[in-house]
Amino acid sequence: MTTLAVTDLCKDYTLRNGLKFSTLHAVKDVSFELVPGRTVALVGQSGSGKSTIAKLISQLERPTSGSITLGGEPIGTRGKALREYRDQVQMVFQDPFASLNPFHTIGHHLERPLLLHGKATRRTARDKALALLERVNLTPAQSYIDRRPHELSGGQRQRVAIARALAPEPTVLVADEPVSMLDVSIRLGVLNLLARLQREENLALLYITHDLATARHFSDEILVMYRGEVVEQGPADDVILRPQAEFTKKLLVAAPEPGANPRFIAEAERRGVPMPDHLAHAEDLT
Ligand SMILES: Nc1ncnc2c1ncn2[C@@H]1O[C@H](COP(=O)(O)OP(=O)(O)OP(=O)(O)O)[C@@H](O)[C@H]1O
Ligand SMILES: [Mg+2]
Repeated sequence: MTTLAVTDLCKDYTLRNGLKFSTLHAVKDVSFELVPGRTVALVGQSGSGKSTIAKLISQLERPTSGSITLGGEPIGTRGKALREYRDQVQMVFQDPFASLNPFHTIGHHLERPLLLHGKATRRTARDKALALLERVNLTPAQSYIDRRPHELSGGQRQRVAIARALAPEPTVLVADEPVSMLDVSIRLGVLNLLARLQREENLALLYITHDLATARHFSDEILVMYRGEVVEQGPADDVILRPQAEFTKKLLVAAPEPGANPRFIAEAERRGVPMPDHLAHAEDLT
């Protein structure tokens, strides 16, 4: 089993204010595991270090100390080992506008990683790209593949970003606020898609969000971060229903409680998740 384990992870940034330097502990002694078939949610207020953890896992940044292992082995940081790591660990970012190149077609965005990671040949790449579009419910795929990003809606673009992340057939997917830039009405559709793919591909999913409601609904485990540290960590229902840390209690009180959405609740019931009213605030329009 390809578990990704993060142990005592720390990331310091040096901040400069005129001639004065200071150290910001963006991430401090964080440990958790991402296991195939399970979703871990990372929640916390802005600046608490969530994206820094995503960047450390995806190796866009190097840790100050601590370790990341995949399948029990220290992760490869350069050359072939790094490429192999990137096959296994993929990201979905917050902004689907920024993550797609406006000059390239949707087909190009999908064929490139397929070729790069050896999952297709020039002859098979287009068919595989079409299949990926179908996986993310952009159908008929033929009508999307030759378009450019600006010819898609935000939600459709994020689906392309998800399809692209799936192209290398990863075992771990890190989704950093994957729906926070999308209209509220389509968020649940994209989250449901991620949840379905996670089940079908047996992915280890790290779901980063501000939103406790969807964290509980879509995750097995929740980690609550406050100023770089994990202040609470446990099964999703325990953290939401019986919070221990003061900060988690504050987050829960601050969570908005708009009226219940019947479709959201129906989906929760289908999955056997008990769902308090205030969790039902997103509309499912897929
Ligand atoms: N490259 C950098 N240099 C200096 N400081 C940084 C850098 N990247 C992040 N930080 C700081 O580290 C802290 C954690 O940032 P991070 O982006 O991880 O927060 P976050 O929890 O993802 O917040 P948000 O919810 O707003 O996305 C912040 O105080 C941020 O300003
Ligand atoms: Mg962030």
